[in-house]
Amino acid sequence: MVVGLQGAGKSRWVAQHLAGTHAVVSKDHWPRARRREARQQRVVAEQLAAGRSVVVDNTNASPAERAPLIALARSAGVPVRAVWLDTPLELCRERNDARPEATRVPPVGLHAAVARFVPPTTDEGFARVDVVRPGAPGAPGPAVR
Ligand SMILES: Nc1ncnc2c1ncn2[C@@H]1O[C@H](COP(=O)(O)OP(=O)(O)O)[C@@H](O)[C@H]1O
Ligand SMILES: [Mg+2]
Repeated sequence: MVVGLQGAGKSRWVAQHLAGTHAVVSKDHWPRARRREARQQRVVAEQLAAGRSVVVDNTNASPAERAPLIALARSAGVPVRAVWLDTPLELCRERNDARPEATRVPPVGLHAAVARFVPPTTDEGFARVDVVRPGAPGAPGPAVR
């Protein structure tokens, strides 16, 4: 799963690195559906049962949000990797502000994610935690500001 604030570059990183190999699941795909969390878990379980690799593209900001997904993977017998897009808040804000209005998140949404954010660790059950920072090797492109 990818982990990071709104505007951190998660969806872009997924498109660049995993689109060819993984089914991309995101609650953003059903913005108006009810029970999106349950739906997402069902889709992930179905993909894993079919033997496909899956990436969950949401903020996944807190251990409480990540735990059900880690549990699903565990029951399917597959390891879970976290890719944390550790992008500074100010850069997330700038990128969010530069987005077309339809995809821009309200500042309150970003602040809520900041408030509950806890960095992912292997203690939660991740087999591996990778950190991607703007401008660092393996980062999603140059540190454009
Ligand atoms: N490495 C980067 N350099 C410059 N712009 C980026 C980078 N990563 C993402 N962006 C831009 O920032 C915005 C947010 O990226 P996105 O991948 O949609 O973030 P997230 O899915 O984490 O909310 C998009 O307009 C995207 O094109
Ligand atoms: Mg996204």
